[in-house]
Amino acid sequence: MAHEKMSTTQNKKLSSLKKLIGGNKKAIPGQLKLLEAMKSGEQVGDKQWQEAAKAHSWLHFTSHGSFNSKDMLIIERGEGHFLVDSKGHKVIDGLSGLFTNNVGHARPELAEAAAKQMMELDFMPLWSYHHPRAIELSERLLSYAPKELTRVFFTTGGTEGVESAWKIAKQYFKLVGKPQKHKVISRMTAYHGTSHGALSITGLPQFKQMFEPLVPSTFRVPNTNFYRAGEEFASAEEHALWAANRLEEAILFEGPETVAAFFVEPIQNAGGCLTAPESYYKRVREICTKYDVVLVADETITGYGRSGEWFGSIRYDIQPDMMVTAKAITSGAQPLGALFLREKYFEPFSEGSATLAHGYTFGGHPVACAVALANLDIYDRENLVDNVRMNSPIFRQTLEKLLDLPIVGDVRGDGYFFAIELVKDKDSKQRLSAAERDKLIRGFLNGAMYQAGLYARADDRGDAVVTLAPPLTVGPKEFVEIEQILRGVLSEAWEILNS
Ligand SMILES: Cc1ncc(COP(=O)(O)O)c(C=O)c1O
Repeated sequence: MAHEKMSTTQNKKLSSLKKLIGGNKKAIPGQLKLLEAMKSGEQVGDKQWQEAAKAHSWLHFTSHGSFNSKDMLIIERGEGHFLVDSKGHKVIDGLSGLFTNNVGHARPELAEAAAKQMMELDFMPLWSYHHPRAIELSERLLSYAPKELTRVFFTTGGTEGVESAWKIAKQYFKLVGKPQKHKVISRMTAYHGTSHGALSITGLPQFKQMFEPLVPSTFRVPNTNFYRAGEEFASAEEHALWAANRLEEAILFEGPETVAAFFVEPIQNAGGCLTAPESYYKRVREICTKYDVVLVADETITGYGRSGEWFGSIRYDIQPDMMVTAKAITSGAQPLGALFLREKYFEPFSEGSATLAHGYTFGGHPVACAVALANLDIYDRENLVDNVRMNSPIFRQTLEKLLDLPIVGDVRGDGYFFAIELVKDKDSKQRLSAAERDKLIRGFLNGAMYQAGLYARADDRGDAVVTLAPPLTVGPKEFVEIEQILRGVLSEAWEILNS
């Protein structure tokens, strides 16, 4: 076995790592104990998973140091709108996985569609060849999409959709004789993904600094956070118009002949569910048309019913040129993304030898497409988008009850997508300090909500917020349960903040 062959130096290295790992003395990198146990037919569970996970895996966006003194949360099962962990603790999934599981978890219809497709055609790339499920899914998707979008390019997720939109815009402009158009404008605090391109478009400096230099030529304009807008703005409309006009200013400053695209989320997640009135999108549309800038709606989260319409672009009449979607397209059961485009951007590629030199092995995977079709069947059968539209005001009212707590400054959002902003002083809207955010968000809130029965996300990429995005299958009963849990946890958070 590998660990029997280890040198003294390796052993020393391991014992210092072992000290680092702390709590769990058996989590020694290099010793594949879980594998051994499984091979020998031993029953494995939480204890063995904890050891192996701490020794050999690397989680995304996670401070692993915290696992020196505590166990990981290992989610073993999903049951409808519940999650069950490896210690048997059951919680409401208040975030739909990661804005993914809109029809809930472990739906047999999706599993059956995947199995059937695997036995028919398990894989074929969309590189020069096509397959029936991707063809069928394209038309099906377009039947729900804003009418101006007529073409679909498949990816495996949101980052790839953002990356693809930018690259397609760049190549399009080269083909139509505007080769200088390459720059991208996006909004402050917005998250658009993690590849070098998508990260460049992201407006969160703290996520970018360690990876610089990134792709050049990206610029930020203000978002539509009215709660944090200055007193000079009398209404959300007034603030939003001001914010939209900053886009024109940025385009003129950079030179319209150099700007390719503007990326915007219909409801911006980072910063806490930032909505905008329709007038904002009307003005943004005007500006993008005037300067031939591709208006890209990043609907990685808002797509597929989250806003109370099929797409946020319909909800706010955005009339985008391109629309990035992913996550809930399969309700998370398979990795898939779909970038929707106006025909204009495909036309230069439709004749002659012009080729989009871009693609992904697994973009439009046949199994993922089959699952997406079955997922859309569930949406239709259960009228999930109507459910959101009908119940969203009740969700909002239920969460707004929390405004009686001193720590809750604002409740905002739309559809089944709300953020609760946490403040130190309600009247002055005083923000939590960095140390307080550390203590509350990382040190308390996420864990406390989970222990109390709710998986949701306390987040301070912008201001401190708790974000909620439950499966579209839930209703008023679950809203009350969520409110009750949050009431207890946020009351305790206030005490901790003032202790
Ligand atoms: C608005 C937005 N764009 C892009 C992404 C990146 O998507 P993915 O993680 O699927 O690459 C996300 C992820 O949450 C997102 O919220």
